[in-house]
Amino acid sequence: MKVLGIESSCDETGVAIYDSKKGLLLADQLYSQVALHAEYGGVVPELASRDHIRKTVPLIREALAEANLELSDLHGIAYTAGPGLIGALMVGASVGRSLAWGLNIPAVAVHHMEGHLLAPMLEEPAPEFPFVALLVSGGHTLLVHVKGIGDYTILGESLDDAVGEAFDKTAKMLGLGYPGGAVLAKLAEKGEPDVYDFPRPMVRHAGLDFSYSGLKTFALTSWNNSDKSEQSKANIAYAFQEAVVDTLFIKCRRALKALGATRLVVAGGVGANKRLRERLAELDADVFFPRLKFCTDNGAMIAYAGAIRLQAGEKEEAIIQPRPRWSLEELCV
Ligand code: KG4
Ligand code: ZN
Repeated sequence: MKVLGIESSCDETGVAIYDSKKGLLLADQLYSQVALHAEYGGVVPELASRDHIRKTVPLIREALAEANLELSDLHGIAYTAGPGLIGALMVGASVGRSLAWGLNIPAVAVHHMEGHLLAPMLEEPAPEFPFVALLVSGGHTLLVHVKGIGDYTILGESLDDAVGEAFDKTAKMLGLGYPGGAVLAKLAEKGEPDVYDFPRPMVRHAGLDFSYSGLKTFALTSWNNSDKSEQSKANIAYAFQEAVVDTLFIKCRRALKALGATRLVVAGGVGANKRLRERLAELDADVFFPRLKFCTDNGAMIAYAGAIRLQAGEKEEAIIQPRPRWSLEELCV
């Protein structure tokens, strides 16, 4: 089954084609809107929607050319239906659903976080079920018990800012631009240890929830009280990143222990963080990460998740219905 996947939930247009028979990705196209939003210091939803309109169809053409396929070779279409920005979701959902209708093939609405969750399945070796998943992106911080496709129990989540959001807000405050998560991580490499001691929020609370808004404020106070030198900036970036990574490490270890689980899957944009990857590799578990470009938003994870659901016989009515809010736990097998 050759499935076209379309991702347009935020500021990246991703289109990919996955062949479930061969277990191969045949095409993977991505267009990032980062430059468009950078001058506003964050994603401007209306601009995002308009840019997805400009890019989706050309990227579908490029993906077909990359895979050396015609539209008539496709067996199904998967699109991100949520969660995300409503206008942005509307574009991928409208194009995907209409194209499937025109081609008389099934379409499936994919949950963006399920896409992230299954991205490590595109790697070798792929994790086996059950596993614990740490999903860390710009909009979500989730620990999930994954017993199988569509069988998800949320173990913990952020009570305020998502990890990626905290990275981005702290980076912006330090004048590192938008989205600054990766820039902050790079700067942290030049930081000196033991200059700043940031708190580890929620680690003394029982349970598996997170909180990151306090760390952002701690970074701001540290910066305001510093000599504002480049070295101080790097030291704050270092201490912030250590605190974030440490809290994620502690909660992952706690979740694995509580469930007696031996496999951890890490996905979402912050999963690209080098320090996080290093620390989580120290856990007494098999840890699976997608390659870096499949940590951040992409069409490949949507094509893959869609292929799995289409193979299971799932398909959408001929209705275009994005879901800007949509819990992973509402999904079923
Ligand atoms: O999954 P993603 O591409 O989009 C959402 O679904 O939100 O995640 C984007 C988030 C942004 O907050 C970005 O700053 C963060 O992932 N990010 C990083 C790194 N690379 C991307 N955060 C920390 N370190 C990185 N290397
Ligand atoms: Zn994402």
